[in-house]
Amino acid sequence: MARGKKIYEGKAKILFEGPEPGTIVQYFKDDATAFNAEKKDVIDGKGVLNNRLSEYFMVGLNQIGVPTHFLKRLNMREQLVRSCEIIPLEVIVRNFAAGSMSKRLGIEEGTQLPRPIVEYCYKDDALGDPLVTEEHIAAFGWATQQDMDDILGLALRVNDYLSGVMYGVGIKLIDFKIEIGRVYEGDFQRLVVADEISPDSCRLWDIETGQKLDKDVFRRDLGSLTDAYAEVARRLGVMPKNSGPSKPTLVN
Ligand code: TMP
Repeated sequence: MARGKKIYEGKAKILFEGPEPGTIVQYFKDDATAFNAEKKDVIDGKGVLNNRLSEYFMVGLNQIGVPTHFLKRLNMREQLVRSCEIIPLEVIVRNFAAGSMSKRLGIEEGTQLPRPIVEYCYKDDALGDPLVTEEHIAAFGWATQQDMDDILGLALRVNDYLSGVMYGVGIKLIDFKIEIGRVYEGDFQRLVVADEISPDSCRLWDIETGQKLDKDVFRRDLGSLTDAYAEVARRLGVMPKNSGPSKPTLVN
């Protein structure tokens, strides 16, 4: 497919104009960053794995009636998505304490929380995506009260879906981040899960061993990031074709 004009380049993805109005092509790069891009590397194959994994989760969400921006995967690194206006919030859901919450509140990583806790960060790299409250969100007009009710509902449904899918393959969903987009349909607008859902934006621990299978492997120098992501893909049965040894074939 002829590629449209580049619209935006982020840390892990590039967005191009899609083939039809209202569509966008999302290209997954191999770049990995952490700590607001203070730590960077190029990790061969990460983009391919995240494209597949994000497709898998978005398709699953669509199937259970949680709306997402995902339309279809185009190739190893690209997917077609509906264009939407991203609400400038990172919506984080936590089931177990880890990362910034453990630091901020002095709770040991891995401690189960009494219930899922939803946090919001204002998406602004220059400020380092600061934690904000619903008061800030309402006062600065980043989202309405109705949006916030819908966002909370979406976030908790994604949490139930992802926790269940992961539990089924022996992985504990510690926490994750999603982004929400506004899609306009005539005079109406609705909110959809946008951006990506991948081990870049989740914390995933093996239930038996506690082994980390997410971007903390890169953030904390714990080994091979692609091995970790490939393990998640393998367990879910979404290994990309052409990666790894092919199955023996019968020769007549
Ligand atoms: P945190 O504990 O560092 O705040 O991260 C919470 C979750 O959000 C974790 O699953 C990783 C994810 N995350 C992102 O997707 N992007 C980010 O920029 C950060 C800081 C975290």
